This record gives sequence, structure tokens and C-alpha cells, in this order.
Amino acid sequence: MYHGVIFGVVVRLILQILPDNHACRMRMFRTYNEVHMAIPEHIILVCQSFRVTGEPKGICHKQTSGFLQYMEEEILDRGLDCQIAATGCLKQCENGPIMVIQPENWWFKGVDSEGAIDAILDGLENGEPCADYLLS
Ligand code: FES
Repeated sequence: MYHGVIFGVVVRLILQILPDNHACRMRMFRTYNEVHMAIPEHIILVCQSFRVTGEPKGICHKQTSGFLQYMEEEILDRGLDCQIAATGCLKQCENGPIMVIQPENWWFKGVDSEGAIDAILDGLENGEPCADYLLS
């Protein structure tokens, strides 16, 4: 609750400091939104086996420990415009661990190592899905 009040006070102070020029204010807020609220070019879904009724089941979460952190670092290193999202079971357990890249709708199976992640991200950089892990 206090955060909202503090935020409101800060915004009012900033508006008092800014020049009394509507175009200038709008340009500053637009720039803020472009930097902080941009929609990513790709979403990478990483199955973490979540189920509606409690404990994760399936295999994906058992073989992907530390992968989200590794992927985040790789994406930053490569300068890819991607957002990672951990998901519930993607109903492909027998082919897991499963990873999906959208909007390309590339589904990958057996993503169980950093080497697999590297190969898939190499493919994304090159605009082609990595055939070695592609779920067909
Ligand atoms: S647990 Fe990953 S596809 Fe089912």
C-alpha cells in the first residue's frame, strides 16, 4: 500500500520538475515504456511439470535444474530478444524435457543439457530450428 503512495508522490514530483510542455512529457513516458515494457520478439516456454492439483509430475522438472538461470544468461550474452516462461506440463512427457519457442511454434524434445540449450539457441539465432531436438 505504501509503495503505491510513494510512487504517486514521486510521479507528482517528476511532473513538477519536467518542463510544462505536453509533448516533452509524452516523449519521456513513451521512451520509458519502450525501454521497460517492450514486448519480446520470442517467448521460450520451459516445461516445469506444474499440475493443477499440487506437486509437479512428469520428468521435465527433474532434468532441468538450473536451466532457467543458464538460459537467462545465454540469452543476455547473445543479445536475443527473448522472455523465458516456466510452464505446467505441456502434455509431451514421454519426449521431455520439453521446450517451446513462440511465435515460431518450434517444439523441442530431450532438452536435458546445457549443450542442448546452446544448440537450440544457435538455431534461433540462425533462424532455423535445431533439427537434433525438434519434436515432429
Ligand atoms: S512434464 Fe513436461 S511435458 Fe509433461
